[in-house]
Amino acid sequence: MSVLLVEDDASIALVITAALEAEGFKVTCCDSIAERDRLLAANRYSALVTDVMLTDGDGLETLGAVRQAAPDMPIIVLSAQNTLDTAVRASDTGAFEYFPKPFDLDELVGTVRAAVGNAAAREDDAAEAPPAGLPLVGRSAPMQAVYRMITRVLRNDLTVLVLGESGTGKELVAEAIHQLGQRKAGPFVAVNTAAIPAELIESELFGHEKGAFTGAVARHQGKFEQAQGGTLFLDEIGDMPIDAQTRLLRALQSGQIRRVGGREEIAVDVRIVAATNRDLAPLIAAGAFREDLYYRLNVVPITLPPLRERPDDVPALARHFLQLAAAEGLPRRQLSDEAVTLLSNQPWRGNVRELRNFIFRLALFAREDRIGAAAIEPLLGTALDDPAPVEGGTLESAVGSWLRDHPLAPGAVYDAALAAFERPLFEAVLRQTGGNQLRAAQHLGINRNTLRKRLTELAIDPLLLQR
Ligand SMILES: Nc1ncnc2c1ncn2[C@@H]1O[C@H](COP(=O)(O)OP(=O)(O)OP(=O)(O)O)[C@@H](O)[C@H]1O
Ligand SMILES: [Mg+2]
Repeated sequence: MSVLLVEDDASIALVITAALEAEGFKVTCCDSIAERDRLLAANRYSALVTDVMLTDGDGLETLGAVRQAAPDMPIIVLSAQNTLDTAVRASDTGAFEYFPKPFDLDELVGTVRAAVGNAAAREDDAAEAPPAGLPLVGRSAPMQAVYRMITRVLRNDLTVLVLGESGTGKELVAEAIHQLGQRKAGPFVAVNTAAIPAELIESELFGHEKGAFTGAVARHQGKFEQAQGGTLFLDEIGDMPIDAQTRLLRALQSGQIRRVGGREEIAVDVRIVAATNRDLAPLIAAGAFREDLYYRLNVVPITLPPLRERPDDVPALARHFLQLAAAEGLPRRQLSDEAVTLLSNQPWRGNVRELRNFIFRLALFAREDRIGAAAIEPLLGTALDDPAPVEGGTLESAVGSWLRDHPLAPGAVYDAALAAFERPLFEAVLRQTGGNQLRAAQHLGINRNTLRKRLTELAIDPLLLQR
């Protein structure tokens, strides 16, 4: 049950919000008519609570359009103009109730409850839907809390720290904040601070002048400058080397950067959204993450719940990914009810990413258009723990039987086979190294970042392979 509160007196807005939220309402606040109309155009609310005298005009006079757009939405008018005129004008607009200020808070909450109560039974899903245009799927209660947080940071430039396990949608949230926020006309620049070699981070973030170091053959603009006027997404911030953290902190504190080898201080106007799947508290305790940087970044934390804590979202997500798969040219499939139930009960340790990959695999491998539980079970074996061992067999015989068991669309064989091969290989090596990725990469003879990337794509969690 969502309420739009239009009130330009911040302290009153706060008190009303707190009282309504205590009653389980989701409250969105704004202080102007322009903002009200923008919010109403993009969202549905169960009720509107509005003041009359607003920063940009008369909140009553302009209610006509609101009425037309949402004829069923109850409107509750608050006003310090305790005149009969206001009361009459309020009732003329078809307002549900009129409250002269000062009013009794409990009475107001009771009225909102009554107003919404009438409509509650009719209230359809759209009212609980994520902000319009949000690419995030899922309407479980934990995700509602996330959407609420997102809407709160759209009209400001507060720094946001997105937390959550790998694959929960942190990057998607960062993009949504940019796309729906006031900086959408500016660039969205993402930088994965863990994937850049330590010695290059400074130049990546802040740029460099020609000749600043060997190999700096031309002036280079860093990510901060590229993101001017827009949003800079600092991904995997928990893995950033400590030296780079110090420089980043300096830039955030001063709002200025200096290119490597440069003299000039350049003012930067960027909104920072950072993300990590690491638990920062132990990193701070161990001295691997700067506490002051943490406080700088953690202005508005948004924590994404793991998928296993919101199984209600699995059906919608699964269908969403089947549609995406079809849009990418894979066969169009549907899921039976048992299939949906089975999927909802999986632990999805790799979260939404694992579900996504699984659904794409399913779209590819399934033989029926309507996929039943029986078609899913064998694939779950490979999605989760150990695949069945090939007793005494050779790799050749394993490949042969794998190909027989997996009739693949033309063009899809190599990637699917590679994934099928890499999974047990990586898992076996990671088990040997007790989950240590660096040693696993050395043992395999591949780059650590390559391994990391593939593990993410295959939704393998090295922590689960610790002995
Ligand atoms: N709520 C959601 N609705 C639709 N797609 C989602 C949702 N959450 C995640 N996804 C999809 O799941 C995949 C993983 O999401 P994303 O890359 O944002 O995760 P992440 O939290 O950044 O993971 P990591 O910590 O590994 O970087 C992406 O393909 C993303 O589009
Ligand atoms: Mg990410």
